[in-house]
Amino acid sequence: MRYHVAIVGATGAVGQELLRVLEERDFPVHRVRLLASERSVGKQLAFRGEPIPVEALRPDSFRGIDLAFFSAGSAVSKEFAPRAVQAGAVVIDNSSAFRMDPQTPLVIPEINPEALALHRGIIANPNCSTIIMLMALEPLRRLTRVRRIIVSTYQAASGAGAQAMQELLDATRAYLQGEPFEPRVLPHPYAFNLFSHNSAIGDDGYNEEERKMILETRKIWGDSEVAVSPTCVRVPVLRAHSESIVVELEARPALADIYAAYRAFAGVQLVDDRARNHFPMPSEATGRDAVLVGRIRYDAGFPNGVALFACGDQLRKGAALNAVQIAEQLVRTGALPTSPRQGTIPP
Ligand SMILES: NC(=O)c1ccc[n+]([C@@H]2O[C@H](COP(=O)([O-])OP(=O)(O)OC[C@H]3O[C@@H](n4cnc5c(N)ncnc54)[C@H](OP(=O)(O)O)[C@@H]3O)[C@@H](O)[C@H]2O)c1
Repeated sequence: MRYHVAIVGATGAVGQELLRVLEERDFPVHRVRLLASERSVGKQLAFRGEPIPVEALRPDSFRGIDLAFFSAGSAVSKEFAPRAVQAGAVVIDNSSAFRMDPQTPLVIPEINPEALALHRGIIANPNCSTIIMLMALEPLRRLTRVRRIIVSTYQAASGAGAQAMQELLDATRAYLQGEPFEPRVLPHPYAFNLFSHNSAIGDDGYNEEERKMILETRKIWGDSEVAVSPTCVRVPVLRAHSESIVVELEARPALADIYAAYRAFAGVQLVDDRARNHFPMPSEATGRDAVLVGRIRYDAGFPNGVALFACGDQLRKGAALNAVQIAEQLVRTGALPTSPRQGTIPP
């Protein structure tokens, strides 16, 4: 069985990665439809060596589509995802539009695949920092309950989209040439600088990214009690987020058992060479599917505490790869029927 697939936001950082991941993993695509704003009409993107034209997103764009990946921001998802479902497609949404909707599963396939069974047409892909953190913690969580998480993020430009990556390059070039540079996408000078995450701050002092990490962790784990204390920071790295994580566990597993759990868990790679001082780095996580985890140690600050450092390519596992893995899981379980209107997709 092969599927008619649409990518909404195909020209963006996540959209282009989606196209690459679908191709690399040989997802059973019959035909792919690339959708973006009017600005991109006339552009072409390659899929399996074929140039595919980018079309403007319209209310009738989903006729004959079986599976639609959305990565064009919350407003676009809110308006068009229900239309795609109405047209018979299953939607996997990268935006935050539906993540906290009780009817919408929020899924990391290695962690809570069972939630997929509850979907009503839309499945939400979690926030990228949340996915990387929860992948890095899953082996520990399989050993004992995680009571509390204290996490600081070091987030790359790519998390803010293709234009932010370009801004980091342009700002760095200008800085090195001693030229002035006016930020266009991000709120502060980015070259050789870092700043608190560029999302809105609430009355409680937490920004939106931090709030997502708190609420999405509770939803994915089905644990309303877990305490999460995040501090999210944007750093001048082009691609791949890093996170310093300290957890308080219900029990204190032996370090040997902790290492064994990490070695056994697909989706994570241990990078933990104390002798060579070699631990996870965003440069080594870039373009990789696995979340790199290292610096694993008992935390010096409180009992049953474990500290670690993780890096993950948030365009891959934090977005496109996780979304495609969700689709693969639907295919595996027979939960992604092809639409009876499949033949009607215009050439
Ligand atoms: N970057 C990440 O690491 C990451 C991770 C997880 C989730 N996400 C989420 O994924 C979404 C996309 O992020 P991104 O980083 O890929 O952003 P991006 O690079 O800025 O790309 C945005 C995409 O959305 C399209 N778009 C914008 N407005 C549109 C409209 N009115 N109608 C149709 N298409 C429109 C753009 O098309 P044009 O090129 O035509 O403007 C472009 O294809 C966001 O919701 C983001 O929160 C991003």
